[in-house]
Amino acid sequence: MKLVTVVGARPQFIKAAPVSHAVQDSTQFEEVFVHTGQHYDDNMSSVFFDELGISTPDYNLGIGSATHGAQTGRMLESVEVVLKEENPDVVVVYGDTNSTLAGALAATKLQVFVAHVEAGLRSFNRRMPEEVNRVLTDHASDALFAPTPEAVQNLRQEGVASSKILEVGDVMYDAVLHYAEKAEKTKSLFGEIGLERGSYILATIHRAENTDNPDRLAAIFGALMEVADDIDVVLPLHPRTENVLQKEGLFEDVDRQLCLTEPLGYLSMMLLERNSCLIATDSGGVQKEAYFHRVPCVTLRDETEWTELVDHGWNVVTSPTSNESIRASISGRIGTTGDDVDLYGDGKAASRIVDYLVGQFTPEYHLK
Ligand code: UD1
Ligand code: UDP
Repeated sequence: MKLVTVVGARPQFIKAAPVSHAVQDSTQFEEVFVHTGQHYDDNMSSVFFDELGISTPDYNLGIGSATHGAQTGRMLESVEVVLKEENPDVVVVYGDTNSTLAGALAATKLQVFVAHVEAGLRSFNRRMPEEVNRVLTDHASDALFAPTPEAVQNLRQEGVASSKILEVGDVMYDAVLHYAEKAEKTKSLFGEIGLERGSYILATIHRAENTDNPDRLAAIFGALMEVADDIDVVLPLHPRTENVLQKEGLFEDVDRQLCLTEPLGYLSMMLLERNSCLIATDSGGVQKEAYFHRVPCVTLRDETEWTELVDHGWNVVTSPTSNESIRASISGRIGTTGDDVDLYGDGKAASRIVDYLVGQFTPEYHLK
């Protein structure tokens, strides 16, 4: 049997890694890896294939950056060509990017079974491109792998048949457990940047609603620069954010005040996360990783899809509308902890996903 994985953006390489390993372990599927090329810089793409031990993509479609419609449309056309060539039993897509939607649409139009990993997440904010991608992908999918009970609930409320939904836990938790030891053994950034464990804030900012709104951008970076007067702030810079800081004439000040780095590999990022005293972010994945490492988090957005982190005290959502509120939120969170609960499964989400898929295509498998 053949399984095609469609990925394209940084977080998808990380989410696909545990599933790819589980596919290899099961030996039931041949996996064909398709990279749309949405992310293409070495530090946004190839570094992850090297570090995570997943195979080099069988196809790199080289789509690159463009407007939403153009990028998604080009991916749709190119993924279709690959699917016709490979004739798979199942296509697996991850998360909520344009690559996710293009992969799901291309497959469903060819009547190929679509499996969506990280199904059912909702911000209930349709102005976010990711929300549109998630909703459309979920409704085009045949198997919806939800990370949490709330995600299952969201899908049921939208009328998705219960028979298609499986709560499996979160593959990003699988990844953290799998790579933590390897991360500890990697060359440490602390010496290089001159940081001490537990004595700095880690920040990441890349979401369009923040970078493309000059008031929000100024409030976020203004606040982080003020915070940096008292405590080091390390910020691996997403290329979207670097471009906009340059364009707005903010880059030099920010570079002087904060400890900026290039986008990091997953293992270095994990080390920085687990040794920080607080994480301030607008990333979906980084919010959860803060909790995996039991580090308090401030989410600089109007809402979060990962509401259980807020309910259990690990995360606070702060709309990034003013310097003062962001600063107050950050200083109020340092040193806090949340409830001692397991929110994202047991680290076996990937093998549950693969078991389910094997069962779909070889029903006799479960009778063994
Ligand atoms: C995309 C996803 C977002 C996800 C993020 C993960 C969509 C709609 N958005 O946002 O959900 O959280 O990836 O990081 O799919 N660029 C480079 N080099 C690269 C990649 C991008 O320079 O390797 C620059 C380009 O100027 C590009 C911009 O970053 O226009 C934005 O890239 P794009 O993939 O369109 O969106 P992201 O902001 O990365
Ligand atoms: N990440 C990374 N290097 C970085 C920034 C993030 O490896 O410089 C990892 C991070 O640990 C997480 C994932 O990328 O696993 C999150 O991706 P991102 O924030 O780009 O996207 P989102 O999760 O918001 O879609």
